[in-house]
Amino acid sequence: MEEQDAKRIAGYAAVDEFVKNNQVVGIGAGSTVPFCVERIKQRVDEEGLSLVCIPSGYQAKQLILDHGLILSDLSQHPDIDVAIDGADEIDKDLNLIKGGGGCQLQEKILASCAKLLIIVADFHKESQNLGEYWKRGVPVEVIPMAVVPVMNKVKKLGGNPVIRFGVMKAGPVVTDNGNLVVDVDFGIIQNPNELNEQLTRIPGVVETGLFIGMADKVFIGQADGGLHTI
Ligand code: 5RP
Repeated sequence: MEEQDAKRIAGYAAVDEFVKNNQVVGIGAGSTVPFCVERIKQRVDEEGLSLVCIPSGYQAKQLILDHGLILSDLSQHPDIDVAIDGADEIDKDLNLIKGGGGCQLQEKILASCAKLLIIVADFHKESQNLGEYWKRGVPVEVIPMAVVPVMNKVKKLGGNPVIRFGVMKAGPVVTDNGNLVVDVDFGIIQNPNELNEQLTRIPGVVETGLFIGMADKVFIGQADGGLHTI
């Protein structure tokens, strides 16, 4: 069973269980979410569902448009029925590391506006404690002028910060909000809630990719073609 098949199994199952007629649906980012949008489109065509979709960023917006779904925003629809998103790692308490695609701020805003946050992922992402699987560190979105002081402060918290660069290393990744992303490796994270609070207290940190107590249900596609839900 391929990783892509596992992502499809998770994405389709999440949409089938949680997306219902007349809902406002938040759409996250990554390589698993496109399977959700694919399934939403199938159900819109087959069942005549009437949905409004709110994107978390550029990729999600393009996915919504490419599938001919109704696009809106938080100004028009500030209350989301269900947000569906991917994750980079999921611990036993449903805490998440997100932001591998650099959309952590908008994704957290969408999640905070949603009655339900549903996570879709493949079998690699499940762990006991955050940091066991996702070795790139916690994505931290930082105001550009504060990047050096923020990096110094996260070192004092025990982290190893690295500014995220684009694939060609020509320059740093700039988020949809004009900020930089610093990936901070803290090793295995024993207390993600405390760490998130410590990070968000640093002036210049806009948001972190630690999603604490936000996910309501997680769909994890398995290597053998099965589905595990938490
Ligand atoms: C983007 C994200 C993604 O949801 C996360 O990186 C998971 O992506 P994928 O489905 O490709 O594993 O947080 O900022």
